[in-house]
Amino acid sequence: MRDLDMSVCLAGMTMKNPVVVASGTFGFGREYSEFYDLSELGGICAKGLTLHGREGNPGPRIAETPMGILNSVGLQNPGVDAFIAHELPFLRQYDTKVIANISGNSPEEYGVMCEKLAGAGVDMIEVNISCPNVKAGGLAYGTRPELAAEVTEVAKVHSGPVPVMVKLSPNVTDITEIARAVESAGADALSLINTLRGMRIDIDSRRPILKMNTGGLSGPAVLPVAVRMVWEVSNAVKIPVLGMGGVSKGEDAAQMMLAGAAAVAVGTACFADPFAPLKVRDGLEAIALRQGLSAVSQLTGGVKPW
Ligand SMILES: Cc1cc2nc3c(=O)[nH]c(=O)nc-3n(C[C@H](O)[C@H](O)[C@H](O)COP(=O)(O)O)c2cc1C
Repeated sequence: MRDLDMSVCLAGMTMKNPVVVASGTFGFGREYSEFYDLSELGGICAKGLTLHGREGNPGPRIAETPMGILNSVGLQNPGVDAFIAHELPFLRQYDTKVIANISGNSPEEYGVMCEKLAGAGVDMIEVNISCPNVKAGGLAYGTRPELAAEVTEVAKVHSGPVPVMVKLSPNVTDITEIARAVESAGADALSLINTLRGMRIDIDSRRPILKMNTGGLSGPAVLPVAVRMVWEVSNAVKIPVLGMGGVSKGEDAAQMMLAGAAAVAVGTACFADPFAPLKVRDGLEAIALRQGLSAVSQLTGGVKPW
């Protein structure tokens, strides 16, 4: 068999393969560790953290849709200190990159969390400015370039040598505007997309299915939107992109990388099949071998637009 280098580099962080799991769809890895060795993954984006623990939103908070799900979980998590004390040591047993994902109610909160996480030794901090399911902060920061830049600057100041990746929302008119603002503010990488705002209604009760009325759409249905946005953003900035949104097989990941992503995240697909990230990795490897590549990273940005 020919040699294929599956490693990729994301903002100075080298991963053994380009497949990470998306925040909020893998918890802190404990449940999935019963299925396979988490060291097989390129990286793990942990469940979104807030400064203090949160119960999340009332249910129902998950609804199925054609080729996807709507969720309004609302950042249920034990808080950053509990993560550092109980979850990070568990994740650190594995030979994989650990990416902490954070949401704040103010730029200051983002700063405090970055300082704690950088001190605790995570490999990267993913700054979520794009959660559609929380009232304060969240999406508000991700839809206004000046606020997105402010949060990025504060995160950078408090993260020391740990790279900062900012997670962008697709719920904007022009995602490249936010991407450029965040790059200028010093972000080391970008991740996209978070979920697309959506709604389902029970026609007899006339009630929305989700208690929060609306939620975020993810899964295979969003893949073409995500690929388009990864392509636009990759052409607009110089920093690397982690592509996600609807990736469930190797071909999806290859599309993301050709559109410009340095690495890909698998989210909703993990719910249907816990092994999905490993299948995506193996599928990607098979595609790269079939195409005669020597390194999977040669896919990145390889699309030939008409
Ligand atoms: C149930 C659920 C919870 C999520 N929680 C978070 C979160 O805490 N932080 C975050 O940045 N993104 C969160 N996301 C968004 C995913 O990380 C990802 O960006 C999105 O689902 C698109 O990828 P996918 O189609 O592969 O799921 C969540 C998604 C789902 C479905």
